[in-house]
Amino acid sequence: MPEPTKISETVSINIDGQSYELPVVTGTYEEKGIDITKLRSQTKYVTLDTGYKNTGATKSSITYIDGENGVLLHRGYPIEQLAEHAEFLEICYLLFIGELPNKEQLDNFKAEIKAHMGLPENVKHILNALPDETHPMGMLSTVLSAMTGFFPDSLDSWTDEKVRWASIYRLLANMPVLAAYIYRRQKKLDYIDPDPSLSYVGNFLNMTFGNQDEKVAEALDTLLILHADHEQNCSASTARFVGSSHVNLFAAIAAANNALWGPLHGGANQKVLEMLQGIQDDGGDVAKYINKAKDKADPFRLMGFGHRVYKNYDPRAKVIKKYVQVVLDQLNIDDPMVEIAKGLENAALEDEYFSSRKLFPNVDFYSGIIYRALGIPVNMFTVMFALGRLPGWMAQWKEMREGKEPIGRPRQIYTGYTKRDYIDIESR
Ligand code: SDX
Repeated sequence: MPEPTKISETVSINIDGQSYELPVVTGTYEEKGIDITKLRSQTKYVTLDTGYKNTGATKSSITYIDGENGVLLHRGYPIEQLAEHAEFLEICYLLFIGELPNKEQLDNFKAEIKAHMGLPENVKHILNALPDETHPMGMLSTVLSAMTGFFPDSLDSWTDEKVRWASIYRLLANMPVLAAYIYRRQKKLDYIDPDPSLSYVGNFLNMTFGNQDEKVAEALDTLLILHADHEQNCSASTARFVGSSHVNLFAAIAAANNALWGPLHGGANQKVLEMLQGIQDDGGDVAKYINKAKDKADPFRLMGFGHRVYKNYDPRAKVIKKYVQVVLDQLNIDDPMVEIAKGLENAALEDEYFSSRKLFPNVDFYSGIIYRALGIPVNMFTVMFALGRLPGWMAQWKEMREGKEPIGRPRQIYTGYTKRDYIDIESR
């Protein structure tokens, strides 16, 4: 484990003629943060950073992203190596524990997950009671919020470490069950219950499609790895923020799931496929849509492009792009959308509007093409993202819990009325 972050220097700020020294926190890769914990008590000033574009919310040792160089490490291991050599449950263990498991540790981890697999019949009744047109992410959030009802001991997941781990295993074990049930609910098919004798992804495929193709399972396992964690993204930060009120794990994860649903975040993979379909239906005119994406008067955005942190090619997108052709060839699928996606990417990467803003394909740009090839409906793409991101949410929540972090409660700059007296309705 690397050295804890060093507080080795300070910076001075000058306010109203007075100088203040603020400590500097230095990370593993020498990134610097000004610790403003005491800023307000010393100066009465707060900082303002809408969208937290320049604000570190915490110190974390789980994932490192070098956005300028397109680097992504989980506990120090490059995502490219993990995607090539590891399996998803190994990554889950790595994110929670901080080290890769040996065979015995991985076997025990898998045994715990299998031991916690299975959901009460009432979960199906909840899904059946929802309107047919309920979005799959809405179905998922509904059941995640109901989980404390099915497992009431999980209400103690903040205070009791044994219950905490039971809740982690329950979610890891049953998120694939929920995703498969939601697929069957949408298609009005009979539910297929989990078969713990199958692999993690094989079990998901069997519950979803009634069979499990080895090649599909391998591709899906890799996609889950590529989505597992991404430091302080919107949904992981939500898990930490909501969790900081000491609410139970299931509630924090339900909140994170709702944050992921948004089209600027995990919902982008569905929007990418809809965008590609729209371009294909409109004759496949790539140049037309590149111009629309650049036109400020046009609400059209190139979904799957751009990133808050990556100002280079998202390393996950690179792996997924390579995988697209492998999976399509394995499944003997010829998808015209691949050429449209590649055409958009080539045109954008050569266009000054995108290059000057350092807009590159992100994890969502090509993933939907694979999900569709695997038979996943477009409106379930974000559920697949949640399936992959679940260990990241829980690892971030666990780090916040073990770090005994305070409840999140940001300040503001007030811009409303000064104090004024109430006016009776007759005199308004
Ligand atoms: C994920 O945070 C994470 O780590 C997220 C994630 C994870 O694994 O958890 O990586 C997963 O959410 C990936 C992102 C998925 N979202 C999309 O693909 C939606 C399309 N992308 C954008 O909406 C946007 O790029 C964001 C939301 C991803 C990032 O937005 P920022 O950092 O707030 O940047 P911005 O919106 O201020 O854009 C900067 C400029 C603007 O132009 P100007 O005002 O400078 O003229 O770039 C333009 C934007 O208009 N721009 C785009 C664009 N993305 C940014 N223009 C056209 N098409 C786009 N996609």
